[in-house]
Amino acid sequence: MTTFDDTELNLATSRAEAVYTQRCAASREMWKRACDVLPGGNTRTVVYFDPFPLTFVRGEGARLIDADGHSYVDMLNDYSAGLYGHSHPAIRAAIVRALDEGMTLGGLNRHEARLAELMRARFPSCELIRFTNSGTEANLMAISAARIATKRPEVLVFDGGYHGGVFAFTARDNPINAPFPWRFGTYNDLAATLEVIEREPEKLAAIVVEPMMGGAGAIPGTREFLQGLRDAATKHGIALIFDEVMTSRMGAGGIQGKLGIRPDMTTFGKYLGGGMNFGAFGGRKEIMGVFDSRKADAVAHAGTFNNNVITMAAGCAGLSEVFTPEVAETLYARGEALRARLNDAGREAGVPFQATGVGSIMALHPQSEPIRRTADLVVPLPLRKLVHLEMLTRGYSFARRGYVTLSLPLEDADLDGFVAALTDMLASVVAPLLARAPAKAQRARG
Ligand SMILES: Cc1ncc(COP(=O)(O)O)c(C=O)c1O
Repeated sequence: MTTFDDTELNLATSRAEAVYTQRCAASREMWKRACDVLPGGNTRTVVYFDPFPLTFVRGEGARLIDADGHSYVDMLNDYSAGLYGHSHPAIRAAIVRALDEGMTLGGLNRHEARLAELMRARFPSCELIRFTNSGTEANLMAISAARIATKRPEVLVFDGGYHGGVFAFTARDNPINAPFPWRFGTYNDLAATLEVIEREPEKLAAIVVEPMMGGAGAIPGTREFLQGLRDAATKHGIALIFDEVMTSRMGAGGIQGKLGIRPDMTTFGKYLGGGMNFGAFGGRKEIMGVFDSRKADAVAHAGTFNNNVITMAAGCAGLSEVFTPEVAETLYARGEALRARLNDAGREAGVPFQATGVGSIMALHPQSEPIRRTADLVVPLPLRKLVHLEMLTRGYSFARRGYVTLSLPLEDADLDGFVAALTDMLASVVAPLLARAPAKAQRARG
């Protein structure tokens, strides 16, 4: 187990916080004012971090500008929704064209079926697709569809999994979660999960799994684990739902394409709406057919903005003009290469460190213990805070929890700079916190 000198760590974190607070005075003022009307000064909990989050006033390509005028290389890219970077010309043009044609048409529009066709070409497991306003809603609808189609009540999810605002399994009894009859499996532990499935499998409607746990810390599911879930679902007539809200960007066809595992249903979100509000779910005809409006017993799937013309048009432009299958594969390879370099940087700095993830999504964990599920995460919170604030001060923005996702406009020089800044930070800030611990322990023993 990695140990840090707690006193030194807290001191270093306080110093970093003081520098950050002084540097970002305008952001602090804006956040304090926001606290008067928004609980915690925000309307999206994940963007909050202490002592106060930055307020961004502009984004340009792969850069963010904060309220104090500092420029950051955007290494977060809105938790993967910002794949196209800020105001990509092709996306912008599609939005302007759609605006010129009228925004809320209140009927079918010419973009929605096209976007569904573009998506099905990449995700053939999705024979039929429907759109929603968010990934959360996509999971809500997919789970409900599976329960209706199978006529079964229960749903298997994984400890630590995240499928949206009302599906956050950081704790089994998270009071915000939707009240479905949940069962819990252990991520990347097929034997333990099969035990849970085999107990009254006829009651299970769905298994919902992220092929790579995103919010939990970019923890990839092993092929054996995911294939084992596929086999168990097939054996018992359970709908296997891959939540690819984060991972659909992995090459042309998401992680299901990379692994060659065909889920019964898939949920989507993030960049697929070109950066606009977006969600989608799709899958086998027998399940998605419950929504076929031509049938007398069809289940209604409502949503005023499900086919928002701006989102649909931006999504079409993104997939057809920008994020082509070739570009998707290139971004995947760039991510794999960057993660390898970051891991080299950790080794070079001689500190406990690993970058986990798949393709263009990764997480930085200053720990050497292997990470196969959330229970394996042991990084002390002050260390996460220190790494985050130090990297912000060096001009690189990513999430407090170490989350990094790549966008298309990031250049090689940006990635080189990020690796160099991280290497420097690990060596000059993190390494001394470790190095002193054994010396002190020795003195204490002596
Ligand atoms: C795997 C996964 N599923 C679902 C969601 C929810 O998507 P949204 O934030 O659009 O509701 C997220 C969001 O981060 C996610 O990472």
